[in-house]
Amino acid sequence: MLSESFLTELKARNDIEDIVGAYVQVKRRGRNLVGLCPFHSEKTPSFTVYPESQSFYCFGCGAGGDVITFVRRMENLDYIEAVKFLAQRAGMAMPEDGYDDSLARLKTRILEINRQAARFYHQCLISPVGKKGLDYLRERGLSDQTIRHFGLGYAPEQWDAAIRHLLGKGFRMEELIAAAIAVKGSRGQSYDQFRGRVIFPIIDIRGNVIAFGGRVLDGKGPKYLNSPDTPVFKKSRNLFALNFAKAAKQPALILAEGYMDVVALHQAGFANAVATLGTSLTAEQARMISQYAQEVVISYDSDGAGQKATNRAINMFGEIGMKVRVLKVHDAKDPDEFLKKFGAVRFRMLLEGADSAMAFEIQALRQKHDLAQPEGKVGFLKEFAQFMAGIRNPIERDVYVTRTAQELGVSKEPLTQQIDYIIRQQAKHAEKKQERNLTVFAADTKGRRDPQRNAHLKEALAEERLIVVLLKNPDYREFILDQIQPEDFLTDFNRAIFRVICDRLAENRSIEPISLSEQLDVEQMGKVAGILADSACSGATRKEAADYIDTILAGKAKKTPEELGKMDRRQLEEYVAGLAAKKK
Ligand code: UTP
Ligand code: MN
Repeated sequence: MLSESFLTELKARNDIEDIVGAYVQVKRRGRNLVGLCPFHSEKTPSFTVYPESQSFYCFGCGAGGDVITFVRRMENLDYIEAVKFLAQRAGMAMPEDGYDDSLARLKTRILEINRQAARFYHQCLISPVGKKGLDYLRERGLSDQTIRHFGLGYAPEQWDAAIRHLLGKGFRMEELIAAAIAVKGSRGQSYDQFRGRVIFPIIDIRGNVIAFGGRVLDGKGPKYLNSPDTPVFKKSRNLFALNFAKAAKQPALILAEGYMDVVALHQAGFANAVATLGTSLTAEQARMISQYAQEVVISYDSDGAGQKATNRAINMFGEIGMKVRVLKVHDAKDPDEFLKKFGAVRFRMLLEGADSAMAFEIQALRQKHDLAQPEGKVGFLKEFAQFMAGIRNPIERDVYVTRTAQELGVSKEPLTQQIDYIIRQQAKHAEKKQERNLTVFAADTKGRRDPQRNAHLKEALAEERLIVVLLKNPDYREFILDQIQPEDFLTDFNRAIFRVICDRLAENRSIEPISLSEQLDVEQMGKVAGILADSACSGATRKEAADYIDTILAGKAKKTPEELGKMDRRQLEEYVAGLAAKKK
């Protein structure tokens, strides 16, 4: 752990205005500074720097925190790396003892292992042992140049070819296991993670080999095997081929589903293609994409799963305000197959004509109904009106309503009236809801996707308010802890923040953002910064704190139907008795 005095000095010497100013053009507005957020794509500035609390917060995407968090996000560093970065910048020496850099050292070793492993797999591919792999890739239409460009490889069909090679280079078995090149078997023996597969190295934007994907040649095992998360790799935070796509410096990125799609696209001249790594798109990946492009063209598989994934991705990009188009390949299952069948010129035509996300969704709605039948038409128009009511921009709405009415041969006016009616109803509904609820934090992106938070929204909001009260009034700690413990919180996310703040207060340690960022991750720091940015709640009283606590405890006492279902008879009786006792 770093000492308080070291962090105080680090903060004093790295003014957040200077650090942010090196990356973002900011303008003074009152006591604060505002600019375009570097973490998502936007046209009007919602990124704010608060010199007073030395923190930043983006009302658009919810990124926020102290100067260390900023550098972590901006430079893609972990906590200690970011501290070092800032210390170096300020000419400060890192404290000799009292902090542990064994993780940093392990990471360096793993990156070295990965680089050597990638080289080994590639050598195998182009030597006799890898003939099967090379034949396979060539048969799939990859040129030798593409194979070299991506550093593709082959993992021999042996139990320990990579292990033996890397042990011979002086790495230790524990390190190979940490790198997930080796897997520990149940009886203590270790074997290669990848065997008899062609290898796709995953390279980050700094050029480090951080993981691998491996495809089977015959039908055995999963089609693709990916490295699990390791100290240098987090699936949800990386994209395949982003290193190349970033360098392509195009205004748009193409998002595909698979490794082979991306490799084929690059070979065909679309060097701005990336893919997720064996998972569906995560919020972090969406944010990364928005960092490198103004627009994303989703080009997933043409099957049902691909369409579902497209809908999901549209929503995720919508939430961060990113412009989306959807490219649908016809008569081919994915972009790779399309390129093979129809060539790059046809793909470019598709790309240029790719529908907006809106047109895509309307098309999907139409396909649900049989428009040849009157009932089908009515059914579609009902859903269409509902969908249109969700679109804020009236001009955009008008364009699609006009077009759809024409295409269906119905008059536009009743359709518009219906849409306006739904919009008014929704507005009324929303107003009522707002009155009932506590205020929701602006742009709480993490929170919005947290299923626990959604399941217990009322309590989660109370938890967040309670955290505000405590942050602004540290002297309430005892008063609060007399009534509620971190364990009583219903959401893990808020519980972790609350616990860190309580623990630090108990040890008389600082709860300023720069100190909290040692123990909270970048998402949690975003929420803390959001809380600090929300000046409306500065004058909180103990009475309010007590109200929030009541809300949380009442929510905790309630059981969900699933929990009730799991109780035996005696537990149920006790629970009901407890509820009755509370009522009195
Ligand atoms: P697909 O099954 O669509 O593969 O999976 P593909 O890219 O078309 O593969 P080819 O053309 O048959 O070689 C899409 C992506 O989903 C992940 C991989 O990242 C793959 O590229 N995936 C798929 C896995 O992680 N594991 C699997 O078993 C299958
Ligand atoms: Mn494919």
